[in-house]
Amino acid sequence: MYLQRRNRITRRSPAIRALVAESILMPNDFILPLFITEGKDVVEEITSMPGYFRRSLDKTVDEVKDLWSMGIKCVLLFVKCDDALKDNTGRESWNPQGLMQQSVHTIKDAVPEMIVMTDVALDPYSIYGHDGIVDEKKGTILNDATVEALTKMSLSHAAAGADFIAPSDMMDGRIGVFRQALEENNFPDVGIMSYSAKYASCFYGPFRDALDSAPGFGDKKTYQMNYANRIEAINETLQDVEQGADIVMVKPAMAYLDIIREVKNAVTVPVSAYHVSGEYAMIKAAAEKGWLDEEKAIIESLTSIKRAGADLIATYFAKDAVRILNGK
Ligand code: PBG
Repeated sequence: MYLQRRNRITRRSPAIRALVAESILMPNDFILPLFITEGKDVVEEITSMPGYFRRSLDKTVDEVKDLWSMGIKCVLLFVKCDDALKDNTGRESWNPQGLMQQSVHTIKDAVPEMIVMTDVALDPYSIYGHDGIVDEKKGTILNDATVEALTKMSLSHAAAGADFIAPSDMMDGRIGVFRQALEENNFPDVGIMSYSAKYASCFYGPFRDALDSAPGFGDKKTYQMNYANRIEAINETLQDVEQGADIVMVKPAMAYLDIIREVKNAVTVPVSAYHVSGEYAMIKAAAEKGWLDEEKAIIESLTSIKRAGADLIATYFAKDAVRILNGK
């Protein structure tokens, strides 16, 4: 038998497979989300995210030093706001002495080179658990009032020293407004990583446990995208690029690999993907039951996200991935 093409030749050995591998994960690819809570000396495991923790700021700083030493160069901060500080305006979110602002400041002081990104959305600060301000008569989310509030929040993060703000709210027109506000307030170096194509997804469930931020009424379908839609993701993303987004994002990741690829083909800015809390929880749960090999599931999942077109991956598995990649 004579075959012109023997495809198995490039799969013969680990060395040959490595030689021709198209997508290779690196520590530089990862953004690690961190959950910060009030207090001192607090390290709490999140029930629906086994092996993942909420930490007070002192403990977070230790963690960030650790991350830097292992080669992780970017963190994305989320804070758990005290119930007493929540309202419908989200005003605690732009308190210059708020937990987020203090955290940015303290982390940048401790590890100046660490890239610090901050979540911009009202949900952790909202009595309703919504990303925006609620019209209390109609039960709807007010777009423009929310953008105004989030502008103050963004500027306070910039003032605290954030490298990138990361708006996850999905309000219309916000990227352009934030960019202009950053320019006008003398923060020309602060970037925007926009959650451009963020879908209304059940896979955010564990995250909402972590921050106690589940919506008190209704759902987020009037601002986050319908998962039935693909072309709309391109529309959202191109608008964000036009308005000044430095990095765009698709979220979640694994059920949205097609969207990551389409977005990657449509834009010339870096594309990130958020491997979200529910995607973390699924792998953890199956591994706990002995139904999946956890390490293999992590690396295969993250590699597939990179192959789909993600230049950056926000993932709760960043530390595990770096450790596994280093053969430890
Ligand atoms: C808040 C926000 C959410 C996530 C990131 N920012 C939750 C939501 O939109 O309800 C989800 C992250 C995850 O599930 O890992 N705007």
